[in-house]
Amino acid sequence: MQFLQVSAAAPSARRLTLLATLLVGVPLFAGFAVAQQQTFNPRDESPEELPAGPGRDETFYSCTACHGFKLVAQQGMSRRQWEDTLVVMTQRHGMPALEGDDRELVLKYLETHYPPTAAAPGGWQNPFLNR
Ligand code: HEC
Repeated sequence: MQFLQVSAAAPSARRLTLLATLLVGVPLFAGFAVAQQQTFNPRDESPEELPAGPGRDETFYSCTACHGFKLVAQQGMSRRQWEDTLVVMTQRHGMPALEGDDRELVLKYLETHYPPTAAAPGGWQNPFLNR
């Protein structure tokens, strides 16, 4: 009996390890969870930040289901290329296919507001080269 009481009062190495794990691990895990939540949130952007015009909201919400609109807005492409992009988003990334009027609306919006950039008339240029 005496022996049992002593061992209960003096925590075993195992219990100390468990305690240390909880003390360090729980805050670490909580911090990690918070950091995770703060990474990407498409709703940090809103359609109001985009150029106004028909199809703005449809385009914004179609695309930000998966990634930020920045990824779209930083591109400048012809209608053909935007069409190809929609195909890639659908076939490779699982975007629900845009059809009929919706497809036309989104394509029109993209080609109107994100046309090939005048800054690179000769196609892609290396941004790291001094011009
Ligand atoms: C179902 C998910 C999904 C939807 C919806 C979606 N995309 Fe994407 N998109 C992706 C993924 C995945 C990538 C590649 C990941 C990355 O580069 O961050 C990507 C990348 C891109 C890129 C960059 C391509 C490149 O080569 O760097 C463009 C442009 C793009 N998407 C346009 C669009 C447009 C426009 C829409 C809306 C009409 C759209 N996406 C909707 C999943 C999606």
